[in-house]
Amino acid sequence: MLGMVVVSLLAVVAGTAISLSIDWFPTQASTAADDIDLLWDVLMIASVPVFVLVMSVAIYSVVVFRAEPGDLSDGAPIHGNTKLEIVWVTIPFIMVSVLAASGWIVLDDIEKKQANDTVVNVTAQQFAWRFDYPENGKVKSNELVLAKDRPVEFRVRTEDMLHSFWVPEFRLKTDTVPGQVTKIRVTPNRVGEFEVVCTELCGLGHATMRQDVRVVSQEEFDAWLSEEQKEEQGDQASAAGGDQASEGKRVFTEDGCASCHSLADAKSASGIGPGLDDLSDTARRMGRRRGQSPAQYVRAAIADPDESLTRDFNAGVMPTDFEKRLSPAEIDTLVKYLLSVSGEGK
Ligand code: CUA
Repeated sequence: MLGMVVVSLLAVVAGTAISLSIDWFPTQASTAADDIDLLWDVLMIASVPVFVLVMSVAIYSVVVFRAEPGDLSDGAPIHGNTKLEIVWVTIPFIMVSVLAASGWIVLDDIEKKQANDTVVNVTAQQFAWRFDYPENGKVKSNELVLAKDRPVEFRVRTEDMLHSFWVPEFRLKTDTVPGQVTKIRVTPNRVGEFEVVCTELCGLGHATMRQDVRVVSQEEFDAWLSEEQKEEQGDQASAAGGDQASEGKRVFTEDGCASCHSLADAKSASGIGPGLDDLSDTARRMGRRRGQSPAQYVRAAIADPDESLTRDFNAGVMPTDFEKRLSPAEIDTLVKYLLSVSGEGK
């Protein structure tokens, strides 16, 4: 018995020390990170000893108390041990209660509404994130730009299915749920470049559903915002004035096409869907076969992608609701844009 206790205690000390010495997490870049990392250490201190103790007692018993070969006698008849049972119920109960309480305190602290917070809308769709800043002239962006030390409330939506919004350096994570807006509060406190990662298996492009996060100073953030606002106004003016090419390119890059299709003109290189650099040739050839003009073919392929599958690509990957998501005018400009930048000599 003494031998087993000594071996177990040594294993507990070693196991706990190892678990605490491992650098589990990336850089801390939000005010919540400290608390969450501390909570993790508490969890390690509470759970590693239990695991190591149980395992070392079990292994010790298997090795030391093994029955001799040929020994077929029964073990001693034991009918419970009240003292032992009270101990092994009470200790875990206390441990779990302490963990629950500390988790609750940290969560409450993190989710507290901040006085000067700003709202950023996050929209997920297979397989891209979009961000807009409703309090700042409705600026839209494919990159998440945040000001250091400025609390943000993310309102997270999805266009199609479950995704999960996660910036590992901020530590906090929330699922996107169809038909719901989930909220999460973060105060970034370190200038730097990070990544939004989708952590819910959402289809073929799940692993590529990553986008840049940039935390900058308040001045840089303001400068970025006004630059984006100017661009946004430029976009609207050009849409009204008929600059089809830049409007079509905007739809392509901002409404999700670029996250799956490669197209040299839009500098996208994703390989989830077919590349579109020779689209106008394909559209001419396939359209002729189906009695459609190239534009009709491309429009039909956007509206019902599974009807126009090309070799090496499977049905059910491209969302089938782009006709609802985009306005008819947007689809028109997109089709014209795609046909104008693809094909021979491009
Ligand atoms: Cu979106 Cu995984």
